[in-house]
Amino acid sequence: MLLSVEGVTKIFGRNVAVDKATFAVERPAMIGIIGRSGAGKSTFLRMMNRMTDASAGRLVFDGRDVLALKGAEKRAWQSQCAMIFQQFNLVPRLDVVSNVLHGTLNRHSTLATLFNLFPRSDVHRAIDILDRLGIAEQAPKRAEALSGGQQQRVAIARALMQDPHVILADEPIASLDPMNAQIVMDALRRIHEEDGRTVIANLHTLDTARRYCDRVIGMRDGRIVFDGTPEQLTTGAARDIYGADAGFSESATSTSIEALETGADADAAYASALMGD
Ligand SMILES: Nc1ncnc2c1ncn2[C@@H]1O[C@H](COP(=O)(O)OP(=O)(O)OP(=O)(O)O)[C@@H](O)[C@H]1O
Ligand SMILES: [Mg+2]
Repeated sequence: MLLSVEGVTKIFGRNVAVDKATFAVERPAMIGIIGRSGAGKSTFLRMMNRMTDASAGRLVFDGRDVLALKGAEKRAWQSQCAMIFQQFNLVPRLDVVSNVLHGTLNRHSTLATLFNLFPRSDVHRAIDILDRLGIAEQAPKRAEALSGGQQQRVAIARALMQDPHVILADEPIASLDPMNAQIVMDALRRIHEEDGRTVIANLHTLDTARRYCDRVIGMRDGRIVFDGTPEQLTTGAARDIYGADAGFSESATSTSIEALETGADADAAYASALMGD
């Protein structure tokens, strides 16, 4: 067993943001997490990476309960479990290579990092990774001069610099146009397939989850209400995840419910409508 998530829970005051999340992953996989706004997707990723402490539960990766790690062991896990975000989180005025080299931050002294003193071998590796992602020629530019899709690939390169077992991606394509979204999702898929890294991505559209993931987890009100293959993610299953019967938003009209029966694109439109995008 690679990953075992056992009753992982996060409580904020009286709000149960993640409610006893439980699932197991046998071998490296690309997993999509879907669900409407507030379902608990980001909170789950943040607990997994230890940016937020869980209120209860165990999360065992490769035999270690990562929720129990402290100090240096916790930091080591955070570097094995790299995170990418919707807003890229690069240092805008810093050049691309330096941004990527910051992925090695855990391995170097703060002082060396402060002065951008990185070993030559790391610089070469950073450029190789950028090359693999098709953006080596951007290496000397400031991060802020790149397009969104390029910036997200820099963020992926920074993550890869940590040589992580797991890449957690929180809505990695939510700020990108369709073409850049595809380039970024293709890159994540390739990193999973070629390197055998596990990728867990929160995604806001059903069609992306269906197209790129081996497995989809659906969350609703903090609970995992679906866990299956893209094929098993039928219209009915999607309806349960997004809660069509309960709080039906005004923008999801009866027309979009009828359109639902026609397939994946309609599902995506429907999901977006429910979430008010
Ligand atoms: N720091 C916090 N303090 C209090 N409540 C929080 C905090 N972070 C998240 N929550 C609450 O936890 C619940 C889950 O939030 P979370 O951000 O995980 O949802 P999400 O599925 O990622 O939503 P979105 O699709 O909008 O990103 C929400 O009710 C949210 O208001
Ligand atoms: Mg979120």
